[in-house]
Amino acid sequence: MELCERALAAHGPILFLTGAGVSAESGIPTFRGAEGYWQVGSENYHPEDLATNAAFRRMPEEVWAWYLYRRGVCRAARPNAAHLALVEAERTLGERFVLVTQNVDGLHVRAGNSPERTFCIHGNIDLLRWTDEHPRTRPLPEAIPVDWPKARRLGEAERALLQRPGGTWARPHVLWFDESYDEPLFRFESSVSAARRAAMVVVVGTSGATTLPSLIVEIASQRGIPLVCINRDPSPFTETAAQAPEGLVLFGSATEYLPALVRCLTG
Ligand code: OAD
Repeated sequence: MELCERALAAHGPILFLTGAGVSAESGIPTFRGAEGYWQVGSENYHPEDLATNAAFRRMPEEVWAWYLYRRGVCRAARPNAAHLALVEAERTLGERFVLVTQNVDGLHVRAGNSPERTFCIHGNIDLLRWTDEHPRTRPLPEAIPVDWPKARRLGEAERALLQRPGGTWARPHVLWFDESYDEPLFRFESSVSAARRAAMVVVVGTSGATTLPSLIVEIASQRGIPLVCINRDPSPFTETAAQAPEGLVLFGSATEYLPALVRCLTG
């Protein structure tokens, strides 16, 4: 594909930007798909309501239970062909490879991408933070069961691991809707800098609803560099790519198109 050849002949990173669609074929429900709600008592919550600092302050135990259940789903999932293609891309492209992911499931690094070149801009569901230790993150305590049924609530044991005697809670290491990106925790500047230097941006499996990914796609489009968008459904990013001077939209599945694109980039 000529687009790939032009990108490889230029200088700068090949930036891959991934979203929940990349992990969908591993069995992890997407955010805005039909399964993306959560019940607390008789109330149905959407992720946009629950994944907030405000909700955590109001009902920390319920928010934790939601994350512990989702952590179990993520851990049970295995990397798919799209994840493995990105491992191959890093192996071949080396320092020219940058992966910016919105996924908190950890599947890219579990598949074999390096933590140094994988910017987890929305955090990692396997980590927690104590608010008084910013920006330090820690793995969740091993005593918390990984297999967490949907209806399970926090017990004394988990409460003791997630809350200090004074009452301070540890929180999941994820970016919430009422919070902002930063560099130490979420690699904001590194991601923007990579987009400004990139020779090509490849966007896969995201609805285009969050601000840093939108900024990356906007930068790519304004710079006129090759911009490839692989997505099952139309999104603001497929629209931008369709109008970009060097844009290409591939409607379909990540496991089908991403390995094919990576083959073009890696020979
Ligand atoms: P969404 O659930 O919003 O969008 C998933 C996108 O993937 C949709 O556009 C689908 O059409 C597409 N898709 C689904 N299955 C696919 C497949 N097999 N192959 C290709 N595309 C597929 O998920 P995100 O865009 O990742 O943020 O959501 C972005 C962020 O919003 C999340 O990281 C999360 C959420 O709020 C935070 O937690 C801060």
